[in-house]
Amino acid sequence: MTLNMERSGELYKRATKVLVEGVSSGSRGPMNYHPYPAYMREGKGARIWDVDGNEYIDWQLSFGCLPLGHAHPSIVDVVQREVARGTHFATALEVEVETAELLVSLLPNVDKVRFANTGTEACMTAVRMARGITGKRKVLKFEGHYHGWYDGLLVSSNPQFVSTLGHPNDPIRIPDSSGLTPGSWEDTLVCVWNDEDAIERALSAHGHEIACVVTEPVMSNMGVINPKPGYLKRVQELCRAHNVLFYLDETVTGFRLGAGGAMAEYDLQPDIVTFGKALGQGFPVAAIAGPDHIMESIEHGKVLHFGSHNAPRLGLYACKTMLEEMIRDDHAGFKKIRQIGEDVTRRMNEVARSAKGANTARMLVQNAGSMFHPVFTELEEITNYRDFCQHVDIGLYRKFSALMRDQGIFITGNTVLHNLSCVAHTPEDIDATIAAVGNALDDM
Ligand SMILES: Cc1ncc(COP(=O)(O)O)c(C=O)c1O
Repeated sequence: MTLNMERSGELYKRATKVLVEGVSSGSRGPMNYHPYPAYMREGKGARIWDVDGNEYIDWQLSFGCLPLGHAHPSIVDVVQREVARGTHFATALEVEVETAELLVSLLPNVDKVRFANTGTEACMTAVRMARGITGKRKVLKFEGHYHGWYDGLLVSSNPQFVSTLGHPNDPIRIPDSSGLTPGSWEDTLVCVWNDEDAIERALSAHGHEIACVVTEPVMSNMGVINPKPGYLKRVQELCRAHNVLFYLDETVTGFRLGAGGAMAEYDLQPDIVTFGKALGQGFPVAAIAGPDHIMESIEHGKVLHFGSHNAPRLGLYACKTMLEEMIRDDHAGFKKIRQIGEDVTRRMNEVARSAKGANTARMLVQNAGSMFHPVFTELEEITNYRDFCQHVDIGLYRKFSALMRDQGIFITGNTVLHNLSCVAHTPEDIDATIAAVGNALDDM
């Protein structure tokens, strides 16, 4: 480590006495940021500063929650104005109506939304809705997809030794945590992703007992893995044929691929869709959305969805303002973050091809719009979870990401997540990042 991290080191020592692993979510701690994390103090645009005064270009952007970057003037203005009028009322709100109207106007196939706080809550609600509507119990998820930390979906989400995965026709279901009762995932089926035959087989065998198929549109908790052309449409078609609800989890892709999310990108008409992360522009705002005949299932007395903090007032002002900023001038904001994501990806791959470092595994960067992630692999492309488990060297990514942060480029230390662009990234930020990639690869 070449940066001065003295104050972060002191804070870490204090933190381990009062916070588990020194943080509030394990992935922010030494597991991904060895030997201890930089404690961040401030952010502006695409830059963040830690407590020792080190400056970084931020490509992690709080796990993609910040399409406008840090402390965007419009967000600061609206939140300062509104916080002076009260933080939260837990009553009906005008901004709730306005934000919902805006979302319904932007999202294809959505008549109504219901606001929640986090992606996990939204996913949990969506599954309950699917069971309530269909009267069926089972849920089918895909290997390597993550839908938050709700017990029922906490199966086969992490990378594993390929020898533990079982036959692709019958993947072994691997619980992601201790403390789950066998009953909590008894009704969770697991299928390999990006394989039309596999989902066809699974639905033929179990469709009569499956309430919904849930999928991330782009696999984004295993780097960035795009769906094969036509794959998602085929999954939707098979769901319809088997009377199974098609549930698209857009917690990550929502407001990162564009205003209409993956639904618009891939021309999908999901029965249920969930959003989180970018929706709140840094505030905890999530949403469950869909057509009327689906959304009416959470009317009072049917499927339960409550929450003291649902539709958080300040978060909704931030959400509405972020959407207005991003769609201004014919969606210039969304176009910009996509262009930056594509430019960084192309240029990182060019540097990787000419790198002089000693490693045999080449760095490969895959992207979807604003999202991109480097992996170290001998493959030309990663198309599914099993490729990732077998052919990606996560140790090399760990080393690479630490070398990048040492040069003031903050890319995520989490080996399976991804990095993102925001409207505040400049051409100079990209140039500095690309130069750092070259240095890091040479040093490896
Ligand atoms: C696809 C997906 N769904 C749901 C979640 C859970 O969201 P949250 O962390 O807001 O609970 C995540 C979080 O990474 C996610 O990637």
